[in-house]
Amino acid sequence: MKKFIENLPKAELHLHIEGTFEPALMFEIAQRNKIDIPFKSVEEIEKAYQFSCLQDFLDIYYQGAGVLIHEQDFYDLTYSYLKKCAEQNVRHTEIMFDPQTHTERGIAFETVINGISKACKDAEENLNVSSYLIMSYLRHLSEEDAFKTLKQSLPFKEKIKAVGLDSSEMGNPPSKFKEVYKASVEEGYIPVAHAGEEGPPEYIWEALDILKIARIDHGNNALKDPDLVKEIVKRDLAMTVCPLSNTALQVVKDLKNHPLRKMMDLGLKVTVNSDDPAYFGGQVNKNYIEIQKALDLTQEDLYQLAKNSFKYSFLPSDIKQKYLLELKNYYKSWQ
Ligand code: HPA
Ligand code: ZN
Repeated sequence: MKKFIENLPKAELHLHIEGTFEPALMFEIAQRNKIDIPFKSVEEIEKAYQFSCLQDFLDIYYQGAGVLIHEQDFYDLTYSYLKKCAEQNVRHTEIMFDPQTHTERGIAFETVINGISKACKDAEENLNVSSYLIMSYLRHLSEEDAFKTLKQSLPFKEKIKAVGLDSSEMGNPPSKFKEVYKASVEEGYIPVAHAGEEGPPEYIWEALDILKIARIDHGNNALKDPDLVKEIVKRDLAMTVCPLSNTALQVVKDLKNHPLRKMMDLGLKVTVNSDDPAYFGGQVNKNYIEIQKALDLTQEDLYQLAKNSFKYSFLPSDIKQKYLLELKNYYKSWQ
């Protein structure tokens, strides 16, 4: 099974680039930028990465991102993740980045986007991994702040595919960002949002009806509302599920209790993703491997999950078909 997963062609649709910051690279960049981080060793970092909820994690995640200063730092961070994609047979990835985490510290939007997008371009040429960028608004900040970010992004519009919504969910419902999502869509960005990770089903309803999202990030709490489940199925919206993130942030007690199998049985279009792999104990393949073991998923289930990852990506349909055919042939070769 492990080998089947490792070579399975797949796409990753829920990944925060700031969440791919491995301790070794963090130390290296901190040192070259002469920034103190409160950890002396990888062991100390690992000890700090014990989270009881989303906010616990976010505090450490924003601190780690604080060592990123120059375009080269953003390039190195992104290229290092894309190398991991190539190793895991991730053929396409849709990467979230949080501009406000950096612009709030006085880093120019341009520095962030240029470093990330150059790495994506190089990876497409050298590693055969394609990528899109999802600019995510921080929901703990105001809508006005998000509007500023939208404005800053416009000169770089052709480098950005979609907008997302992340950070502290409770108390920051999707409706808070109604106008900026409307404006983002008018600029040509596809809307997605984190919803129902810790927040109630009502937040998912708002993401659907007010932000008019094309894909749901997490969405676990949809299961508390059967009408919502039906609506998500009816609208054919995919959910980007992140098993190891869910256990690390105690959204789910343990993987054996993970609702992924149930979601699939209800007809929800589920994909498997890593979210913040440097913080949650595993890259995307580890997420597939661990959830397969915990829920005893079959090769057919895994094939379905990988199919969803291409089908519900934002790739044009001819490229989707190409990847889906490659995947089908791979699956057949194992039967
Ligand atoms: N949820 C919300 N915000 C985030 C996450 C997440 O899982 N990862 C990075 N920012
Ligand atoms: Zn996320």
